Amino acid sequence: EREVEAAAAGKPLPRLELTYPSKTLSPGENGPPVPFQQPTPLTTFSYDSERELRFDDSSLRYYVDPPHGADLRHGYEKWIKRPEEKGRLDGLLRAWLRVRNGLPDEFMNGGVIAWRGVMTRILTAPYEEREGWQLNVMCVNGTVYLEEHISDAKLLEKENLTPHHRLQTYYGYSFESFCTSGMPHAKTGWGGDVDTNIQWCSVVKTKLGNTRLVIGGEVDCVRGKSTKTNDTLVELKTSLTIRGQQDESRFEKKLLKFYFQSFLLGVPEIIVGFRSPAGKLGTVQSFQTMQIPRMVRGKPGSWDPNVCLGWGERFLEFVKEAVQGDVHSAPDGVEEVPVVWRVEFKPGVGISMSQLGPEAVEEVQEGSDRYGFLPRWYWEGSLY
Ligand code: A3P
Ligand code: MG
Ligand code: MG
Repeated sequence: EREVEAAAAGKPLPRLELTYPSKTLSPGENGPPVPFQQPTPLTTFSYDSERELRFDDSSLRYYVDPPHGADLRHGYEKWIKRPEEKGRLDGLLRAWLRVRNGLPDEFMNGGVIAWRGVMTRILTAPYEEREGWQLNVMCVNGTVYLEEHISDAKLLEKENLTPHHRLQTYYGYSFESFCTSGMPHAKTGWGGDVDTNIQWCSVVKTKLGNTRLVIGGEVDCVRGKSTKTNDTLVELKTSLTIRGQQDESRFEKKLLKFYFQSFLLGVPEIIVGFRSPAGKLGTVQSFQTMQIPRMVRGKPGSWDPNVCLGWGERFLEFVKEAVQGDVHSAPDGVEEVPVVWRVEFKPGVGISMSQLGPEAVEEVQEGSDRYGFLPRWYWEGSLY
């Protein structure tokens, strides 16, 4: 409120900066590595082909070895592509409302709720040289909510891929179809036409340093039958076949993202399908997520996960410090502008964080039934 009044009076909104993540920090020099608690599953849910969310495992897929030399272009014309969307937290918040009653009241005081993709971006920032990103941030009753901020221009860009890029993207989904079935122990073969509306998601609780995290993300499939624990979860990936030293270090760089994407949800296995540029499947290789850092250590494309965890902890402390004084009262009738922050990461530059003015908040709300970026139904559910 104070800040909004200040903005109205023409005073600048608060703005903070965080120095660029250091890649030189090593556990020996900078104290012990920041601990990351083993993620515990809280619930799972499914999106169906209509993009309806259901609290069941109807969209769960089972792993099947893919056919040798499969053509990943198969079924391209039949691809039902989910329209690109803004990084709203709605599905995750619905899941959280269902599970949080079973946890202590103070559980998420000082905690952070975000999709796994956002956490992956944050943790891998020390090694990111190309792609910047932006987040919207709100703090409500001591819990911090992070969503990716995707501008309309960015959304359009993502929607209008070049035909080449679109096909390359399809190869990844096609590999998923060749590797999965709706039933356990199915025969190898095409698992069904690709519909990217359909997803199976896992929501976990974990802790980075002193910050509790509730993270949700898509899981590609499971091995066998069990879904009660993490140990059968599998992430599927495609990558170009490695033909030389340069390809190898490029792949090892990619492993950083593969690693954190799976690590954050506690997915223990990543199956990579190596393919030709034209989409013919070659070798299929399984990686144990927890072994990946050891595999890349000392190599040309090398990275250190402890740098990422150390940076991630600093980042979250920085964000929490900035938002900790924010007070939000119920939207119930009273029209006040909520406090929303924007975080911006620029590779090679660092992080800046500033409070949004009233017009920018309106843009985030998009005239929909939200208070900031949080849906009103969540807002009401979250107060009682
Ligand atoms: P590959 O990663 O095998 O190429 P995920 O691997 O996260 O399950 O995503 C499945 C597929 O979605 C990816 O397959 C890729 O084709 C596409 N995809 C995921 N993230 C993407 C991104 N940031 N940009 C473009 N395509 C992406
Ligand atoms: Mg996936
Ligand atoms: Mg995948």
